[in-house]
Amino acid sequence: MTVKEHILALLDGNKGEYISGEEIAGQLSVTRSAVWKAIKSLQTDGYSIQAVTNKGYSLSPHTDILSASAISKYLDTQGQKLRVEVFKTISSTNEAVKILASNGEAEGKVILSEEQTAGRGRKGRRFFSPPGTGIYMSILLRPKLSAAESTLLTTSAAVAVALAIESVSGKDTQIKWVNDVFMEGKKVCGILTEASMSLENDWLDYAVLGIGINVALPTGGFPNDLTEIATSVFSESNHYGDLRSRLVAEVLNHFMGFYEHLMDRLFLSDYRKRIISLGRPVMVMKDNKQREATAIDIDNDCHLKVRYENGDEEYLSSGEVSI
Ligand code: BTN
Repeated sequence: MTVKEHILALLDGNKGEYISGEEIAGQLSVTRSAVWKAIKSLQTDGYSIQAVTNKGYSLSPHTDILSASAISKYLDTQGQKLRVEVFKTISSTNEAVKILASNGEAEGKVILSEEQTAGRGRKGRRFFSPPGTGIYMSILLRPKLSAAESTLLTTSAAVAVALAIESVSGKDTQIKWVNDVFMEGKKVCGILTEASMSLENDWLDYAVLGIGINVALPTGGFPNDLTEIATSVFSESNHYGDLRSRLVAEVLNHFMGFYEHLMDRLFLSDYRKRIISLGRPVMVMKDNKQREATAIDIDNDCHLKVRYENGDEEYLSSGEVSI
């Protein structure tokens, strides 16, 4: 951690209370002028820090800082093993974790950012990632899974997000097959898993699980092309306390619980319960031909069972269907 990150963690742990420059300098073994410079820089970054002569520095209790220390407060024992790092800005957390993965980083690295300048969505789309109101997070996994089984990562992550949102907001969520999380008919979270196969065996070398959640209403609202299809967990722009950090930790706690016993599919009943695609028409794309069908069930591998007009039935994976 840099001096700046240390100070932020210290103020965050004592939000609303004053800590003197001398005390901070002593705890971190740096000069008071280094403390002052770091505070100035944090204020420039947008953190609301009061500086009062003879009292010291205090971080506003209303600050919702996404920080490793705030997240760590809510992580369970399993989650504590993760190595969480938070950036102020980044091109894409998935991209950053992929680079680490290809340089041999071990499983369990988690990168978050307050904003992404080139957030990636599925099918080559951009993922709208404005600062301060969302969660943009990527987790590095090295599971003993085949490429086909990697769907289980994404689907279990969708359930982890759904359960976490429900517990912090008290509101219901739904899942649109395969892994979009919805609230009141609009998308609130998208998940993009990028995996690389091992050259030595049939397992993945690594999987980067990227999760993007709209937590609060972005300042200025969603861009025009998203207003009809996207929503946020909370309908206000303001959110107080360490809500995003709590939500991150809840997602990680749920996900790591599922991941440890992925083959037992502990998430599956919660997944099926929330699926909104069943009973709806879908377009199946196979051998360059389109065919209409109705989604009727989800199997144990989270494939979608569809029924064609002539009564034929088939199980499909995500690349073959558009809903
Ligand atoms: C989608 O719905 O199309 C998937 C969106 C995935 C967005 C997340 S945000 C964190 C991670 N980093 C990225 O660049 N993308 C994923």
